[in-house]
Amino acid sequence: MIFVAGASGTIGQLLCNVLNSLNEEFRAFGRSQPESYFDIGNNQWRSGNFDNYESLVQAMDGCDSVFLTCSPGNQMAEHEINVIKVAQELGVKKLVKVSVPNASRIGRTKLQRLHFLSEEFLQQSGLNWSILRPNAFMQNLHGDTQGFNINRKFCLPLEGAEYAFIDALDIAHVAASLITSEGPQNKIFNLTGPDLLTYREVAEIITHISGNKYSFNNITDDEYIEIMKKTGVDTWFIDEILEWFREFRDLNVGNVTSDVKNVLGRAPNNIKHYITKNLSIFS
Ligand SMILES: NC(=O)c1ccc[n+]([C@@H]2O[C@H](COP(=O)([O-])OP(=O)(O)OC[C@H]3O[C@@H](n4cnc5c(N)ncnc54)[C@H](OP(=O)(O)O)[C@@H]3O)[C@@H](O)[C@H]2O)c1
Repeated sequence: MIFVAGASGTIGQLLCNVLNSLNEEFRAFGRSQPESYFDIGNNQWRSGNFDNYESLVQAMDGCDSVFLTCSPGNQMAEHEINVIKVAQELGVKKLVKVSVPNASRIGRTKLQRLHFLSEEFLQQSGLNWSILRPNAFMQNLHGDTQGFNINRKFCLPLEGAEYAFIDALDIAHVAASLITSEGPQNKIFNLTGPDLLTYREVAEIITHISGNKYSFNNITDDEYIEIMKKTGVDTWFIDEILEWFREFRDLNVGNVTSDVKNVLGRAPNNIKHYITKNLSIFS
């Protein structure tokens, strides 16, 4: 039985759909069950909280492998370490955790430093582990912080920055493959899409596919802060995103890798595929 921690999130929902289609038995865990595009079939939903140890013990009991993802935030490492501790206590055999590119004790971004703490804890836990470090999700392109404004413009301080955008569905497929097979374990996977693209290039591709004019407008960090403050996004998150922008502008996040193909035996989805499949969002 697979325990999906963070099942209501972007990757978690997609993973439940994938596991369901593979007829794998799983238990979906999160604070509350979402209704959108989410099919857990005959599998069980369990509500609880990563900061409530007992709720985790009750929900995870009887599971032999765990998928773990948690939303970004100050408590993230603490929450993830709780899940790993419960997995240890219950004799779980395998845990697949989502992390970030270049997670490190001395990482520039807070998330790199927090993820490093839970990565390190996991690696020393005695569990069989896999760590997924995905590049930026294609799903960000229609999100609140790195998506288009109402005039179909990306207004971001990202001139020249290159991203190896990955479809979160591919992350879910990689997680499903690692968690259900005897395949390589105790390994870090740097997951990327097949192309390095700037936001300007992405806007051109969306324009071409959708027939609507999309564009990229380079702005300063201060202008981005002003725009984000008006949307009500948490200040902590704005600062964090700006650090990530610097990381990408300095080209620190790296090149396209073959890790998705190595696990799945096929190339990752490219941006054209993603936009075509989600055309209603970009029309
Ligand atoms: N977005 C990117 O481009 C990107 C790139 C690389 C890595 N990442 C990493 O990917 C991870 C995020 O994955 P995602 O987008 O799938 O996450 P997400 O959509 O934010 O979902 C996070 C999941 O964790 C659950 N959760 C959060 N706090 C919880 C708590 N206290 N107790 C129980 N459940 C809790 C959420 O439940 P609720 O529904 O109740 O909130 C949700 O199910 C982060 O670690 C991030 O650093 C993101």
